[in-house]
Amino acid sequence: MQVLIAYHSDYGNTKQMAEAIAAGMRAAVAGLDVQLLQAADVPPESLQAADLIVFGTPVHMGSMAWQMKQLIDRAGKLWMEGALEGKVGGVFATGGGFGGAGGGVEQTLIALHANFLEHGMVVLGFPKSLPGYAEGGLHWGAYGRSGNPDGMPGSLSAGALTAARSYGAYLATTAERLLT
Ligand SMILES: Cc1cc2nc3c(=O)[nH]c(=O)nc-3n(C[C@H](O)[C@H](O)[C@H](O)COP(=O)(O)O)c2cc1C
Repeated sequence: MQVLIAYHSDYGNTKQMAEAIAAGMRAAVAGLDVQLLQAADVPPESLQAADLIVFGTPVHMGSMAWQMKQLIDRAGKLWMEGALEGKVGGVFATGGGFGGAGGGVEQTLIALHANFLEHGMVVLGFPKSLPGYAEGGLHWGAYGRSGNPDGMPGSLSAGALTAARSYGAYLATTAERLLT
């Protein structure tokens, strides 16, 4: 099974989540081919080649980073061709999380879901029984809050990275069950 994790990261937090998701996948399913790429470096053919596609973005002004949206728009031709239909998708995000509701993370994750659903893909959320859910799970996908309590840039918690690993394991095992 081929996996593509496409993310955008300016300061490393979203990249750290992507790497934790990849580690969880590799630990859960032997022989996986997992590719991690910054969104700007993803050729649309890589989306077509993958069985499981995971998109991750920082929250920027309550929405996804423009680099992620640019990848989505660059993949429009694949939508015309129905090339991603039946593939499995998962989503994650990081944000400063200022304010109790997380600074726009839910609408960001839902926008990523909407894109996958538009392609006719099967989208996997994050079941609440998985390790790390309490700190880094939303039913839409994995989430890491990178801001500190003073509203300043901080770092992801160990719990958020646990969530990312367990979400990765869940995505890989479930996609394998669905696709093979
Ligand atoms: C231009 C810009 C806008 C941002 N807007 C938000 C926001 O609306 N909500 C939020 O929770 N965090 C916001 N943040 C914080 C980032 O989402 C957060 O620091 C994230 O973890 C950065 O990811 P990265 O380290 O992968 O670049 C913003 C950061 C930048 C640079």
